[in-house]
Amino acid sequence: MEKVNFKGVKLFAPASIANISCGFDVLGLCLENIGDIMEIRRSEKAGIQIKSIIGQDLPLEAENNVAGVAGLALLEAHNPQLGFEIIIEKNIKPGSGIGSSAASAAGTVAGINYLLGNPFTPTELVPFAMEGERLACGSAHADNVAPALLGGFTLVRNTNPLDVCKLPTPLELAATVIHPKIEVKTADARAVLKKRVSLEKAINQWANVGALVSSLYEEDYELLSRSLVDEIVEPSRSILIPQFAELKTACERTGALGSGISGSGPSVFALSRGMTTAHKVAQAMQQVYEKTDIPFEIHVSPVKQSGVSFLEDIT
Ligand code: HSE
Repeated sequence: MEKVNFKGVKLFAPASIANISCGFDVLGLCLENIGDIMEIRRSEKAGIQIKSIIGQDLPLEAENNVAGVAGLALLEAHNPQLGFEIIIEKNIKPGSGIGSSAASAAGTVAGINYLLGNPFTPTELVPFAMEGERLACGSAHADNVAPALLGGFTLVRNTNPLDVCKLPTPLELAATVIHPKIEVKTADARAVLKKRVSLEKAINQWANVGALVSSLYEEDYELLSRSLVDEIVEPSRSILIPQFAELKTACERTGALGSGISGSGPSVFALSRGMTTAHKVAQAMQQVYEKTDIPFEIHVSPVKQSGVSFLEDIT
Protein backbone atom coordinates (compact mmCIF):
# COMPACT_ATOMS: atom_id res chain seq x y z
CA MET A 1 0.00 0.00 0.00
CA GLU A 2 1.42 3.39 -1.00
CA LYS A 3 2.44 5.57 1.95
CA VAL A 4 0.14 8.39 0.69
CA ASN A 5 0.05 10.19 4.03
CA PHE A 6 3.79 10.68 4.22
CA LYS A 7 5.56 13.53 2.48
CA GLY A 8 8.80 11.64 2.71
CA VAL A 9 11.07 9.37 4.67
CA LYS A 10 14.38 9.74 6.49
CA LEU A 11 16.68 6.74 6.22
CA PHE A 12 20.12 5.31 6.96
CA ALA A 13 22.00 4.10 3.88
CA PRO A 14 24.78 1.77 5.04
CA ALA A 15 28.38 1.48 3.91
CA SER A 16 29.55 -1.93 2.69
CA ILE A 17 32.68 -3.97 2.04
CA ALA A 18 32.85 -5.54 -1.40
CA ASN A 19 34.96 -8.51 -2.57
CA ILE A 20 35.87 -9.77 0.96
CA SER A 21 39.24 -11.10 -0.26
CA CYS A 22 38.45 -14.09 -2.48
CA GLY A 23 35.07 -12.89 -3.84
CA PHE A 24 36.01 -10.20 -6.36
CA ASP A 25 32.81 -8.65 -7.76
CA VAL A 26 30.61 -11.33 -6.12
CA LEU A 27 30.82 -11.11 -2.29
CA GLY A 28 29.88 -8.16 -0.10
CA LEU A 29 28.79 -7.34 3.43
CA CYS A 30 26.82 -4.52 5.02
CA LEU A 31 28.19 -2.31 7.83
CA GLU A 32 26.15 -1.22 10.84
CA ASN A 33 28.00 1.86 12.12
CA ILE A 34 28.91 3.74 8.96
CA GLY A 35 26.44 5.24 6.52
CA ASP A 36 24.71 8.25 5.02
CA ILE A 37 21.53 9.86 6.29
CA MET A 38 19.09 10.63 3.50
CA GLU A 39 15.69 12.22 3.09
CA ILE A 40 13.51 11.24 0.15
CA ARG A 41 10.50 13.51 -0.35
CA ARG A 42 7.65 13.47 -2.84
CA SER A 43 7.65 16.27 -5.40
CA GLU A 44 5.05 17.66 -7.81
CA LYS A 45 7.77 17.84 -10.45
CA ALA A 46 8.38 14.59 -12.37
CA GLY A 47 11.83 13.05 -12.08
CA ILE A 48 14.54 13.31 -9.43
CA GLN A 49 15.86 16.51 -7.92
CA ILE A 50 18.92 16.42 -5.66
CA LYS A 51 18.19 19.33 -3.32
CA SER A 52 21.39 19.25 -1.30
CA ILE A 53 24.39 17.11 -0.42
CA ILE A 54 25.81 17.93 2.98
CA GLY A 55 29.45 17.09 3.67
CA GLN A 56 30.73 16.49 0.13
CA ASP A 57 31.02 18.41 -3.10
CA LEU A 58 29.16 16.16 -5.55
CA PRO A 59 27.08 16.93 -8.68
CA LEU A 60 23.47 17.94 -8.04
CA GLU A 61 22.17 17.23 -11.57
CA ALA A 62 20.25 13.96 -11.34
CA GLU A 63 21.80 12.57 -14.55
CA ASN A 64 25.31 13.09 -13.13
CA ASN A 65 24.64 11.83 -9.63
CA VAL A 66 24.58 8.16 -8.58
CA ALA A 67 21.44 8.68 -6.45
CA GLY A 68 19.82 10.54 -9.33
CA VAL A 69 20.43 7.90 -11.99
CA ALA A 70 19.38 5.08 -9.64
CA GLY A 71 16.14 6.92 -8.80
CA LEU A 72 15.48 7.70 -12.46
CA ALA A 73 16.00 4.02 -13.36
CA LEU A 74 13.36 3.04 -10.80
CA LEU A 75 10.89 5.70 -12.00
CA GLU A 76 11.45 4.65 -15.62
CA ALA A 77 10.41 1.10 -14.69
CA HIS A 78 7.52 2.14 -12.44
CA ASN A 79 6.04 5.52 -13.44
CA PRO A 80 8.12 8.29 -15.05
CA GLN A 81 5.43 10.87 -14.16
CA LEU A 82 6.31 10.68 -10.46
CA GLY A 83 8.80 12.99 -8.81
CA PHE A 84 11.04 12.86 -5.73
CA GLU A 85 13.51 15.20 -4.01
CA ILE A 86 16.63 13.93 -2.28
CA ILE A 87 18.73 15.40 0.53
CA ILE A 88 21.92 13.50 1.40
CA GLU A 89 24.05 13.88 4.51
CA LYS A 90 27.17 12.25 3.12
CA ASN A 91 29.13 10.56 5.88
CA ILE A 92 30.84 7.97 3.66
CA LYS A 93 33.68 9.59 1.75
CA PRO A 94 33.45 9.05 -2.02
CA GLY A 95 36.34 6.94 -3.26
CA SER A 96 37.02 5.44 0.17
CA GLY A 97 36.30 1.84 -0.86
CA ILE A 98 33.36 1.24 1.47
CA GLY A 99 30.53 1.66 -1.00
CA SER A 100 29.89 5.40 -0.91
CA SER A 101 28.15 5.50 -4.31
CA ALA A 102 26.31 2.25 -3.52
CA ALA A 103 24.89 3.72 -0.29
CA SER A 104 23.50 6.78 -2.09
CA ALA A 105 22.01 4.66 -4.88
CA ALA A 106 20.60 2.02 -2.50
CA GLY A 107 19.16 4.64 -0.13
CA THR A 108 17.42 6.41 -2.99
CA VAL A 109 15.73 3.36 -4.50
CA ALA A 110 14.83 1.91 -1.09
CA GLY A 111 13.33 5.24 0.01
CA ILE A 112 11.27 5.75 -3.17
CA ASN A 113 10.11 2.13 -3.01
CA TYR A 114 9.03 2.62 0.62
CA LEU A 115 6.99 5.72 -0.26
CA LEU A 116 5.36 3.85 -3.15
CA GLY A 117 4.26 1.04 -0.82
CA ASN A 118 7.03 -1.41 -1.79
CA PRO A 119 6.11 -2.41 -5.35
CA PHE A 120 9.61 -3.93 -5.63
CA THR A 121 11.34 -6.47 -3.39
CA PRO A 122 14.82 -5.50 -2.11
CA THR A 123 16.36 -7.87 -4.68
CA GLU A 124 14.34 -6.24 -7.49
CA LEU A 125 15.80 -2.87 -6.43
CA VAL A 126 19.38 -4.03 -7.01
CA PRO A 127 19.44 -3.42 -10.82
CA PHE A 128 18.24 0.18 -10.34
CA ALA A 129 20.95 0.86 -7.77
CA MET A 130 23.52 -0.78 -10.09
CA GLU A 131 22.92 2.08 -12.56
CA GLY A 132 24.52 4.34 -9.94
CA GLU A 133 27.62 2.10 -9.95
CA ARG A 134 27.73 2.24 -13.74
CA LEU A 135 27.82 6.05 -13.53
CA ALA A 136 30.39 6.03 -10.71
CA CYS A 137 33.00 3.79 -12.32
CA GLY A 138 31.76 2.51 -15.66
CA SER A 139 31.01 -0.97 -14.34
CA ALA A 140 27.53 -1.93 -13.09
CA HIS A 141 28.77 -4.31 -10.39
CA ALA A 142 26.39 -5.31 -7.59
CA ASP A 143 28.71 -6.38 -4.78
CA ASN A 144 28.18 -3.13 -2.80
CA VAL A 145 24.56 -2.34 -3.70
CA ALA A 146 23.36 -5.89 -2.92
CA PRO A 147 24.53 -5.87 0.74
CA ALA A 148 23.43 -2.22 1.13
CA LEU A 149 19.90 -3.25 0.09
CA LEU A 150 19.63 -6.79 1.49
CA GLY A 151 21.93 -6.53 4.53
CA GLY A 152 24.33 -9.17 5.89
CA PHE A 153 26.56 -11.02 3.45
CA THR A 154 25.48 -11.29 -0.18
CA LEU A 155 26.74 -13.24 -3.15
CA VAL A 156 26.09 -12.07 -6.70
CA ARG A 157 25.98 -15.25 -8.78
CA ASN A 158 25.19 -13.34 -11.97
CA THR A 159 24.44 -9.75 -12.92
CA ASN A 160 22.61 -10.33 -16.21
CA PRO A 161 20.08 -11.68 -15.49
CA LEU A 162 20.56 -10.72 -11.85
CA ASP A 163 20.88 -13.62 -9.42
CA VAL A 164 21.73 -12.53 -5.86
CA CYS A 165 21.81 -14.76 -2.75
CA LYS A 166 21.68 -13.48 0.81
CA LEU A 167 24.03 -15.51 3.02
CA PRO A 168 23.85 -15.97 6.80
CA THR A 169 25.99 -13.72 9.00
CA PRO A 170 27.63 -15.22 12.10
CA LEU A 171 26.51 -12.91 14.91
CA GLU A 172 29.93 -12.29 16.46
CA LEU A 173 31.53 -11.12 13.25
CA ALA A 174 32.92 -7.57 13.40
CA ALA A 175 34.73 -5.46 10.83
CA THR A 176 37.55 -2.95 11.21
CA VAL A 177 38.20 -0.61 8.29
CA ILE A 178 41.06 1.85 7.88
CA HIS A 179 40.60 4.54 5.25
CA PRO A 180 43.93 6.08 4.21
CA LYS A 181 43.01 9.46 2.73
CA ILE A 182 44.59 8.96 -0.65
CA GLU A 183 42.73 8.67 -3.91
CA VAL A 184 42.38 5.29 -5.64
CA LYS A 185 39.73 5.51 -8.35
CA THR A 186 37.75 2.30 -8.87
CA ALA A 187 38.25 2.62 -12.63
CA ASP A 188 42.05 2.79 -12.09
CA ALA A 189 41.99 -0.09 -9.59
CA ARG A 190 40.14 -2.16 -12.19
CA ALA A 191 42.55 -1.14 -14.93
CA VAL A 192 45.56 -2.61 -13.03
CA LEU A 193 44.02 -6.08 -12.94
CA LYS A 194 45.46 -8.84 -15.07
CA LYS A 195 43.04 -9.98 -17.77
CA ARG A 196 44.20 -13.61 -17.58
CA VAL A 197 44.37 -15.88 -14.54
CA SER A 198 46.24 -19.17 -14.25
CA LEU A 199 44.16 -22.30 -13.73
CA GLU A 200 46.04 -22.95 -10.48
CA LYS A 201 45.11 -19.56 -9.02
CA ALA A 202 41.51 -19.88 -10.26
CA ILE A 203 41.18 -23.23 -8.50
CA ASN A 204 42.46 -21.79 -5.23
CA GLN A 205 40.17 -18.78 -5.53
CA TRP A 206 36.94 -20.67 -6.14
CA ALA A 207 37.87 -23.15 -3.41
CA ASN A 208 38.19 -20.21 -1.01
CA VAL A 209 34.88 -18.65 -2.10
CA GLY A 210 33.09 -21.97 -1.61
CA ALA A 211 34.71 -22.48 1.79
CA LEU A 212 33.89 -18.91 2.87
CA VAL A 213 30.21 -19.43 2.01
CA SER A 214 30.23 -22.73 3.91
CA SER A 215 31.87 -21.04 6.92
CA LEU A 216 29.01 -18.52 7.11
CA TYR A 217 26.39 -21.29 7.14
CA GLU A 218 28.34 -23.34 9.69
CA GLU A 219 29.44 -20.33 11.81
CA ASP A 220 32.91 -21.79 11.46
CA TYR A 221 35.23 -18.87 12.25
CA GLU A 222 38.38 -20.96 11.66
CA LEU A 223 37.26 -21.93 8.16
CA LEU A 224 36.29 -18.31 7.50
CA SER A 225 39.78 -17.28 8.57
CA ARG A 226 41.44 -19.82 6.23
CA SER A 227 39.21 -18.65 3.35
CA LEU A 228 40.01 -14.92 3.57
CA VAL A 229 42.66 -15.22 0.86
CA ASP A 230 42.80 -13.45 -2.49
CA GLU A 231 45.37 -14.81 -4.94
CA ILE A 232 44.09 -12.91 -7.96
CA VAL A 233 43.16 -9.28 -7.27
CA GLU A 234 45.03 -8.34 -4.09
CA PRO A 235 48.54 -8.92 -5.51
CA SER A 236 47.84 -6.42 -8.33
CA ARG A 237 46.02 -3.81 -6.28
CA SER A 238 47.97 -3.84 -3.02
CA ILE A 239 50.78 -1.79 -4.59
CA LEU A 240 48.30 1.13 -4.70
CA ILE A 241 47.92 1.07 -0.89
CA PRO A 242 50.83 2.34 1.27
CA GLN A 243 51.80 0.02 4.17
CA PHE A 244 49.47 -2.72 2.95
CA ALA A 245 51.73 -5.61 3.99
CA GLU A 246 52.39 -3.97 7.39
CA LEU A 247 48.63 -3.57 7.97
CA LYS A 248 48.02 -7.24 7.16
CA THR A 249 50.75 -8.36 9.52
CA ALA A 250 49.39 -6.11 12.30
CA CYS A 251 45.86 -7.49 11.83
CA GLU A 252 47.09 -11.07 11.93
CA ARG A 253 49.24 -10.45 15.03
CA THR A 254 46.26 -8.86 16.83
CA GLY A 255 43.99 -11.85 16.26
CA ALA A 256 41.91 -10.82 13.22
CA LEU A 257 40.45 -13.70 11.23
CA GLY A 258 41.80 -12.12 8.06
CA SER A 259 42.20 -8.87 6.18
CA GLY A 260 42.25 -7.50 2.67
CA ILE A 261 41.41 -4.58 0.42
CA SER A 262 37.91 -3.17 0.96
CA GLY A 263 36.29 -3.00 -2.47
CA SER A 264 38.72 -1.36 -4.85
CA GLY A 265 40.56 0.39 -1.98
CA PRO A 266 42.23 2.40 -0.64
CA SER A 267 40.45 1.20 2.54
CA VAL A 268 41.71 -2.01 4.10
CA PHE A 269 39.35 -4.20 6.15
CA ALA A 270 39.82 -6.90 8.74
CA LEU A 271 37.21 -9.30 10.07
CA SER A 272 37.35 -10.43 13.69
CA ARG A 273 35.37 -12.63 16.04
CA GLY A 274 33.88 -10.10 18.46
CA MET A 275 34.00 -6.32 18.77
CA THR A 276 36.76 -6.46 21.42
CA THR A 277 39.21 -7.98 18.95
CA ALA A 278 37.95 -5.65 16.20
CA HIS A 279 38.84 -2.64 18.41
CA LYS A 280 42.31 -4.09 19.13
CA VAL A 281 42.79 -4.50 15.38
CA ALA A 282 41.82 -0.83 14.99
CA GLN A 283 44.59 0.15 17.44
CA ALA A 284 47.11 -1.99 15.58
CA MET A 285 46.09 -0.42 12.24
CA GLN A 286 46.39 3.03 13.80
CA GLN A 287 49.94 2.30 15.00
CA VAL A 288 50.95 1.31 11.46
CA TYR A 289 49.52 4.47 9.90
CA GLU A 290 50.72 6.86 12.61
CA LYS A 291 54.24 6.14 11.32
CA THR A 292 53.26 7.60 7.92
CA ASP A 293 52.27 11.16 7.06
CA ILE A 294 49.06 9.96 5.40
CA PRO A 295 45.85 11.12 7.12
CA PHE A 296 43.46 8.26 7.87
CA GLU A 297 40.30 7.30 9.71
CA ILE A 298 39.26 3.98 11.22
CA HIS A 299 35.80 2.47 11.65
CA VAL A 300 34.80 -0.54 13.76
CA SER A 301 31.41 -2.06 13.08
CA PRO A 302 29.33 -5.19 13.43
CA VAL A 303 27.92 -6.62 10.21
CA LYS A 304 24.45 -5.11 9.68
CA GLN A 305 21.89 -7.87 9.30
CA SER A 306 19.42 -5.76 7.29
CA GLY A 307 20.04 -3.24 4.52
CA VAL A 308 18.79 0.38 4.33
CA SER A 309 16.96 1.30 7.60
CA PHE A 310 14.00 3.66 7.73
CA LEU A 311 14.41 6.14 10.58
CA GLU A 312 11.38 8.42 10.42
CA ASP A 313 8.34 9.14 8.26
CA ILE A 314 8.15 12.81 7.26
CA THR A 315 4.51 13.93 7.56
N1 HSE B 1 34.10 -5.24 -6.90
C1 HSE B 1 34.41 -3.87 -7.19
C2 HSE B 1 35.90 -3.76 -7.42
C3 HSE B 1 34.00 -3.02 -6.04
O1 HSE B 1 36.65 -4.31 -6.61
O2 HSE B 1 36.32 -3.14 -8.39
C4 HSE B 1 34.31 -1.57 -6.26
O3 HSE B 1 33.38 -0.78 -5.59
